[in-house]
Formats: sequence, C-alpha cells, structure tokens
Amino acid sequence: MKKKLKLKTWVWVLLVLILFGSIGTYAGIKIYKNYQYEQTYEYKLQNIGYSKEETEKILNVFTTDEERNFFLNNQKEQKYLDFLNEPYFLKEHFQEYLDYAINNSKLTTKEVVRNINIHLDHPFYDDLGLKTDVSKDYLMLVNKYYLLDGTYAPDDLVVIPQTYAWGEAGSRSCRKVAFDAFEEMWQGAKEAGYYLMISSAYRTYQDQETIYNNYKENRGRKYADSIAARPGSSEHQTGLALDIFSKANSNQATFKDTPEANWLKDNAYKYGFILRYPEDKVDLTGYNFEAWHYRYIGVEAATYCYEHSLTFEEYYAYFLEK
Ligand code: DAL
Ligand code: ZN
Repeated sequence: MKKKLKLKTWVWVLLVLILFGSIGTYAGIKIYKNYQYEQTYEYKLQNIGYSKEETEKILNVFTTDEERNFFLNNQKEQKYLDFLNEPYFLKEHFQEYLDYAINNSKLTTKEVVRNINIHLDHPFYDDLGLKTDVSKDYLMLVNKYYLLDGTYAPDDLVVIPQTYAWGEAGSRSCRKVAFDAFEEMWQGAKEAGYYLMISSAYRTYQDQETIYNNYKENRGRKYADSIAARPGSSEHQTGLALDIFSKANSNQATFKDTPEANWLKDNAYKYGFILRYPEDKVDLTGYNFEAWHYRYIGVEAATYCYEHSLTFEEYYAYFLEK
C-alpha cells in the first residue's frame, strides 16, 4: 500500500516537472524568437515608421546590408518612397536622385528620375566616358552622350532602291534590318494611300562632319547643335536612321502638317521605327522637332516607346543599359 502511494507521488512530481519544463522551454523559445525578429530589417524598418508594405518594398529593392542600413541610419522620409514608386526608378542611381533633387527642387520626382537616368544632369556632349555600345546591335544608343568612333561603319548596308529614295541611283543605303522593316512600312503606307520617300539614310562620320560644320559655319554652333549631330553622335552613322518624307512633300518646314507625317507618327512603331525627336521631347533629345527622322529599334522596343511616350534615351536607360 505504502509503495503504491510513493509511486503515485513520483508520477505526479514527474508530470509537474514535465509541465513546467515544457512551459519554460516554450517561453524560452518564444523570447529567443522575438529577440531574433528584433534583429531583422523587417522589424527595424517598421520600428522607425515604415509600414509593412513599405518595408517589403524597400527590402525587395535593396538587398545588401549596406543598402538597407541607409534606411536605418536615416529617419523615415516620404521622398525615399516616392522615388521607389517611380516606374523607371533604378536603385543604382538612388543617391544621385536624392542629391539632384536637393539642387533642383522645382522638378517632380518623375523628372528627377528621368533626368538622372538619361544623364541630363550633365550638359550635352559632356565627356562622361560613355561610348555607343555597338554590341547592342539595332538597339544601340547614339546621342549627345553616347558617341560612335569615327571608324564605325555597319557591315550589312543595302542600297535603297530609287522607288523609295531621292537622289542618284545607289546613293542611299541603310542596314538591312531597317530596310526590310521600311519596305513593309512603305507598303502599309501605300495601302493607306501614301507614298513615302527617304531623303537621307546612312551617313559616314565624315558626311556628318561636313553637314555639321556647314551649319556651324553658316548659323553658329548653338543653331547647328539644335538640328544636326556632331560627328560621331549621329544615328545616321548607325545605318538605322531614315529621314522619311512623302513624295508630295519633302520640305522640313511643312512636312509635319501632312497626312503622311501623321500616318508615320501613329504607325511607324508597328514596323519597329520611332519618331526619334518628337516635338514635346526637345529638352531630352537635345534636338528640335524632326517630323521626318525615324529610327529603327525593332517592334518590341518601338511599341513600348510609342505606348509609354518614351524617348529612346529613357527606354535605353531602363531596359538596356546594364
Ligand atoms: N538631324 C539629326 C539629329 C542628325 O544630324 O543626326
Ligand atoms: Zn535624320
């Protein structure tokens, strides 16, 4: 009888010990987990005021300790989030956006992101050590920052038949990929009742030098820069740019108001061409409106630029410049 009772007591003692042991372990794990969570960026960012969604956004974009610590070392600022929410935000430019915004307080967040992305914080032709990346093929960017060497010439030029171009037979050529697309576009325009004609296509570095210097000597550098590229910075040297008018009108001053110019503006992208120097983007491209200058960049890029009203500079910065 006495032995039985002793055994029962021991069982109870054991049960109580197990119970307290379990509670203790559970509490210990909980405290440790809490401690661990408090060491996370998620906790720390929310602790300084970022919401759960904002925290997620920051952590998705900024992945290294150095990047993330920037947010912990600074108080919460709405402007950080505003930049992050911009559709063409590039994290490698984050600090530049912040600095540029301070010195250009009248610009919107969108404008700050755009300008930094396309180097507009520097004057045109500033030597930024940038060169056209010709390995991008028909997506190469040539502008007042990205220049081609004097020696660059495409190796697949084709002669544009006289049906499509002014000038002496054989005097106009362009890259095959652009010509094939142009031919299709020409056909499309014809079906719509228009006759397109090319006035200028591939130009060598030396051709461009002559053109630019003529403008410069006659009208001065500022004027020349508004309508002609300095040698090395003309898309015509890529063989992918075409100056397209109509058979009825090849006048630079009046072409923009013709039905052919309107047709081109709204249809060229379907064939892979973009209006390269639009009227409302003069500040970005650095050139006056050219209703005739079309650049082949392929259907995918051209469609995106058309649908989002982007210059090739903006598209290139976001999607191609890696
Ligand atoms: N007119 C364009 C900008 C060129 O010279 O390439
Ligand atoms: Zn042109």
